[in-house]
Amino acid sequence: MRRPTILVTGAQGQIGFELARLLLPHGEVVALDRAALDLADPDAIVAAVRGVKPALIVNAGAYTAVDRAETEPALAHAVNSRAPGIFAEEAKRLGAVLIHYSTDYVFDGTQTSPYPEDAPTGPQNVYGASKLEGECAIAAAGAHALVLRTSWVYGLRGRNFLLTIRRLAAERDELAVVADQFGVPNWSRALAEATARIVGAGLPALAARCGLYHLSCTGEASWHDFARAIVGAAPRPRIIPIATADYPTPARRPAYGVLATARFEAAFGFALPDWRKALANCVGSPAETA
Ligand SMILES: NC(=O)c1ccc[n+]([C@@H]2O[C@H](COP(=O)([O-])OP(=O)(O)OC[C@H]3O[C@@H](n4cnc5c(N)ncnc54)[C@H](OP(=O)(O)O)[C@@H]3O)[C@@H](O)[C@H]2O)c1
Repeated sequence: MRRPTILVTGAQGQIGFELARLLLPHGEVVALDRAALDLADPDAIVAAVRGVKPALIVNAGAYTAVDRAETEPALAHAVNSRAPGIFAEEAKRLGAVLIHYSTDYVFDGTQTSPYPEDAPTGPQNVYGASKLEGECAIAAAGAHALVLRTSWVYGLRGRNFLLTIRRLAAERDELAVVADQFGVPNWSRALAEATARIVGAGLPALAARCGLYHLSCTGEASWHDFARAIVGAAPRPRIIPIATADYPTPARRPAYGVLATARFEAAFGFALPDWRKALANCVGSPAETA
């Protein structure tokens, strides 16, 4: 049987980089980074999809600079709202399946128990609003699409909290870290592995399970908990808990963003590990620096 062609975007991003390798057993992977495909250019997206003619599109590219988005709303909208809608329209036209990622930042963060998929949304910043619009654009296109919301993505490459804390830990004796925002850290590779696993069941099976899912490790952490877990048993640096109010940022962040994952587990028959286990796996893994 002919292997399906799989188009991956954001190929140099945290999740996209892992996907480009992990999807290889499941098809002919065409992985496009920013230089190969500018997601802010609608014509380029249409040309890329029509040229590649994929059976599966995995859109891992996104505008993820949460603070900068406050001053670049048009670009955030183009990449996070318009581009996913175009991918969905093109997927529908081709009869392809679309997998797209979204975020816990679509929620307002006032809940104190894990958010199910159908909980009311209420983004608190431009990034969250642009991602929510992307979800809506995909739904409106009526393609075979799976939207996987996740949170607090980290890994051994790119820009993320793990690497920032490691760098600062080498420079300072004390780190002040926000202790009143709660969520779940997710290793990019665990998310990509889960994606590859659901793709591995076959595209018809995937198409039959279209919809919105929360894909996340289990457990719960504050940024302070996450920083402490990264630093581990080392006596230095001391990790000092602080309040969000003491660490002002351009974008407002939800205080709570834990995602309930029961729908994903029921549909696909597996769950991601506890976030501490995934973190241990990540820090014990060989660094991916390509
Ligand atoms: N990071 C998180 O904490 C987090 C949390 C929840 C959900 N998510 C979602 O998970 C998905 C993957 O995120 P990630 O963590 O892998 O993000 P990432 O590491 O920032 O990767 C995103 C990739 O998209 C690329 N990109 C940005 N603007 C582009 C453009 N105009 N044209 C082409 N490529 C462009 C980036 O390139 P440059 O590096 O050159 O900018 C980057 O390689 C996204 O949908 C994101 O919204 C992420």
